[in-house]
Amino acid sequence: MSVRAIVLAAGKGTRMKSARPKVLHELCGRPMLWHVLRALRDAQVDDVTVVTNADVAQHVAAVAERAGHASVRAVLQEPQLGTGHAVQIALAELDVRAGTILVLNGDMPLVDADLIRRALEGRAGALALVTARMPLPSSFGRIVREGDRVSRIVEARDASDDELELDEMNAGLYAYDETKLRAAASELTNDNAQSEYYLTDTIAHFVKAGDHVAPIVADDFRSVLGVNDRVELAAASALLNRRLCERHMRAGVTIADPATTYLEPDIELAPDVTILPNTTIGRHSRIGAHSEIGPNSRLANARIGEHVVISDSVVLDTTIGDFALVGPYAHLRHGNEIGTGARIGNFVEIKASTLAPGAKAAHLAYIGDATIGERSNIGAGTITANYDGKNKHRTKIGKDVRIGSNTTLVAPVEIGDDALTGAGTVVLRDVPAGERAVGNPARLLPRRLVR
Ligand code: UD1
Ligand code: MG
Repeated sequence: MSVRAIVLAAGKGTRMKSARPKVLHELCGRPMLWHVLRALRDAQVDDVTVVTNADVAQHVAAVAERAGHASVRAVLQEPQLGTGHAVQIALAELDVRAGTILVLNGDMPLVDADLIRRALEGRAGALALVTARMPLPSSFGRIVREGDRVSRIVEARDASDDELELDEMNAGLYAYDETKLRAAASELTNDNAQSEYYLTDTIAHFVKAGDHVAPIVADDFRSVLGVNDRVELAAASALLNRRLCERHMRAGVTIADPATTYLEPDIELAPDVTILPNTTIGRHSRIGAHSEIGPNSRLANARIGEHVVISDSVVLDTTIGDFALVGPYAHLRHGNEIGTGARIGNFVEIKASTLAPGAKAAHLAYIGDATIGERSNIGAGTITANYDGKNKHRTKIGKDVRIGSNTTLVAPVEIGDDALTGAGTVVLRDVPAGERAVGNPARLLPRRLVR
């Protein structure tokens, strides 16, 4: 059976008080709209139409692709005359079919595939209407029942005091019979407090026509929370983050403090990883078994091996081999390959560099655009002077090299295997293998004079 979905994402989101459209505000490193599209993908709903405004339209394709959809249709709603109007606009763009059409609010980032499947499976007659019991007060639309049957939805702004006491809410997730939706949508009016065409008025229409509306009560109201302002954004972020942490903890990851651990959706954490407080792990990071990350660390696109320890550090777009030690206070900026058992210590910044297995930079160094061979040691205070004001140049250091404290390596420059530089040396020219360079500018010393 073909299922199509319409995501409503054209609202102005005025309550966010933001230049950025509401559905592009981020939770756990992804736009709100991404979360809704990902839930649809997880529920195997691939035919998706997003109703957008002019500000959102240009971002829809990229967000959808990131969420795993090959393509989605974007339909412009200008001006925005309400959720019912948004659905009318979408239906006008879609060829007429018989079947189920899902409609979801784009501002419900906590929705998950299970609830979407329940709505699809629960449709009987015109509509499966997802509802949730929620603590009051609430700005959600209230479900008005007569006996067991749903008779209508009243928006909080249109509700009487008695109706505001009702604690069953409209989630903003609907599975409609398409033919019946088309008929109901064409008859909506905007006779209400906001002078908008409310999608929710379709329910009273069905009831009047004698059609069945099947309520599906969500098990947990938190999965349908809407985000209308930044307070709700923070609350939803915290819930999503908690859900991500719990999934990893159940899969064998120790998270010392989920409240201060911030995870993004597409990361991989192996069993027996430990995450210490105040740590963020994002983008497509992968962390191998028995590694310990944190406290106070931020990782993005980090590919970390097994038995690695990273503390109080920032690691971006970097690969780190097994048994490496990083931090405290290291900054691995981007494009680094750190070998097995390497050691990156305090106040070391590394960019676009390769450190072979066993290489060490234990204190206070800047290593940029460099290649460092196996077991070589970079002394405290060493700088690769890689930038001449116009271009970046590479520094190449061989195996078993000892770079003395406070060496300045003026790139492009090459230090051969087993070579050594003395403390404070400024290296302007290549140092051949096995040689000892000292001074400013560096000169080569007879080997016997050097320890
Ligand atoms: C809506 C429901 C309410 C429900 C709540 C759940 C209606 C009339 N009310 O209220 O019953 O409890 O969601 O969160 O549907 N949008 C458009 N075009 C528009 C207006 C809105 O695409 O012209 C989109 C918005 O971007 C948003 C969604 O529809 O993603 C819901 O709109 P919003 O204004 O947030 O409705 P609520 O007041 O939250
Ligand atoms: Mg809303």
